[in-house]
Amino acid sequence: MELKEKFDVLTDELENVGIVPVIKLEKVEDAEKLAKALRDGGINCAEVTFRAKGADEVIKRMTKAFPDMLVGAGTVLTCEQVDAAIAAGAKFCVAPGLNPKVVKHCLDKGVPFAPGLSSASEIEQALELGLNFAKFFPAEQAGGLPYIKSVCGPYTTMRFMPTGGVTADNLNTYLSFKKIVCCGGSWIVPPALLNAGDWTGITKLCREAIDKMLGFELAHVGLNCKNDKEAESVADEFEKAFGFAKKVGNSSVFSATAMEMMKSQGRGTNGHIAIATNSVKRAAYQLEKRGFKVAPETVKFTADGVMQVAYLEKEIGGFAVHLLLKK
Ligand code: 3PG
Repeated sequence: MELKEKFDVLTDELENVGIVPVIKLEKVEDAEKLAKALRDGGINCAEVTFRAKGADEVIKRMTKAFPDMLVGAGTVLTCEQVDAAIAAGAKFCVAPGLNPKVVKHCLDKGVPFAPGLSSASEIEQALELGLNFAKFFPAEQAGGLPYIKSVCGPYTTMRFMPTGGVTADNLNTYLSFKKIVCCGGSWIVPPALLNAGDWTGITKLCREAIDKMLGFELAHVGLNCKNDKEAESVADEFEKAFGFAKKVGNSSVFSATAMEMMKSQGRGTNGHIAIATNSVKRAAYQLEKRGFKVAPETVKFTADGVMQVAYLEKEIGGFAVHLLLKK
């Protein structure tokens, strides 16, 4: 695979996952258990930092146990560490800063590198090296999303992985900006849980973070009606009972935003249920892992190419279910 394609695959997968755990694992024998805990919680990637001895062994064990897992090396400061990371099977390398010599060494070996940066000059250095993806570090301390927005404004191709001070509480703020591919952080693998070997606890933390990132909420319930007359009369009833304003559309009639009466037999035996989410793309990725595939022919995009609507292939409780991008 060409390096450019490897970067595309990497950023697409990281965008789907949204969260990259920054790992400092002292006990290499725990590598497989930690990898499994992350995957079980919906996070199929990791940045294993060279801050702990044996990082290359951890990378080797994780990639051997789970070949499809996106395991990268973090805090890669020297060419020797690049070599060790690649030999261990790292699919990408990351550093807190930008060292052109180390970045070039890694790229020459055909492996993506995401150097850390936090200024316009560093972004230009990264562009000079042919990069379109970098770690933004330390994100929160440097000024958070407002700072990233202003500093990256002039650079249209560059996308970022903010890391440093990111937690479940500010994750969605970062991810709401299109130039953010994903966020890195150590909060998802707290030393206390790692040291105690609390794998269930780590899985729970990952799953909670993923669910918070997706922000699933009931958007509306759709009912299949025989024709437009029936759809309107059902909407009239909802308006009369609850004051939900009737709004007639082309193929359906809405009662405020709560109910949607289809003017004919729409998708789903009884109708459909719309679940709103912060990201249809990330939700579709997680739902597939949970056993709910999206029907590709149902996917719709916004004018600027963001996934907006997607139906699940199977019904739940006699209802078709579709994801809907939150406004
Ligand atoms: C890193 O190495 O990327 C940072 O130390 C991670 O920052 P955090 O601990 O604030 O998540």
